[in-house]
Amino acid sequence: MLVTQHSVFQRFWYPVLPMADLAAGPRAFTLLGQPLVLWLSADGKPAALRDRCCHRSAQLSMGVVQNGCLRCPYHGWAYDRQGRCTLVPQLGPEATLPNTYRVEAFPCQDRYGYVWVCLAQDPLQPLPDIPEAEDPHNRLIPQFYEPWHCSGLRVMENSFDNAHFSIVHAASFGVTEQPKPAKSEIVPQELGLKVYATVPVVNPPIQQKILNLPNSLTVREVESTWYVPFSRTLKITYPNGLMHLIFTAATPISDRTSQIVQFCVRNDSEADASTDAIIAFDRQVVDEDKRVLESTDYDTPVDVAAEQHMPSDQPGIVMRRQLAALIKAGNVA
Ligand code: FES
Ligand SMILES: [Fe+2]
Repeated sequence: MLVTQHSVFQRFWYPVLPMADLAAGPRAFTLLGQPLVLWLSADGKPAALRDRCCHRSAQLSMGVVQNGCLRCPYHGWAYDRQGRCTLVPQLGPEATLPNTYRVEAFPCQDRYGYVWVCLAQDPLQPLPDIPEAEDPHNRLIPQFYEPWHCSGLRVMENSFDNAHFSIVHAASFGVTEQPKPAKSEIVPQELGLKVYATVPVVNPPIQQKILNLPNSLTVREVESTWYVPFSRTLKITYPNGLMHLIFTAATPISDRTSQIVQFCVRNDSEADASTDAIIAFDRQVVDEDKRVLESTDYDTPVDVAAEQHMPSDQPGIVMRRQLAALIKAGNVA
């Protein structure tokens, strides 16, 4: 499955950029092969346009924001958030500009501290709803924002695969002596998936500190949610009531590359566990996954018959079936 070959993937919301990055000016991001410019329009909200001026195709992301409009770096044409050209300096502000002086605009919004974009005007799903991330009693910690050279489907199924912990995560939380995965309850949604599990884990010293759990072994109550196509939340609750919720998106830049966007939400305070220590532990876990995921084929088959499976692969099989059905059902008009 090459994501740029199936226009149905254009009909979902993807996080593309930390909102904070726009304070310094326009930024470029490529989503599903489509070059975008992201910027803050007059209302302070993020806007997304095709990153090509309609005059001589200069990259608008090299321009500047002036008076709430995006100005091209070449001849200074200015655009609003709908992509309409509002000023051609060489013609003066009194000029009436033709309707064809415009660039394509895409739906864009700000949520959880990130800019989200949908390349189609009719998204199939709303943005992932994560009430824990909006609860003012919790803290939201931005963790990782980096390209990985693998497909989003590989990242997603890895998130629901509890058969790799004892191998890939042997140095962090995996229990080497227990290669048999914990039983989980799999609840497919009409679009998406939920998985519930109780997972025994090793609790190394760094974790004991940031979890405030003094034991070397513990259990995680895990509720995982897959948001079609390439986002998930992993909500972990420990025996002491601590919640560590991780949101991860594998935003598709191209067929070969996904932008990993990860933040976590905790119900404790900086005094209980420092932001740096929390990020350091998750960094180790994420790097363990990255290493093997980047070794997999980026052209991930959705045909279940194309790879071999074991019983714990059920979440990945559900994902493949749902994605295959979406691809079959259709594409953007
Ligand atoms: S190329 Fe953009 S104004 Fe000329
Ligand atoms: Fe993993």
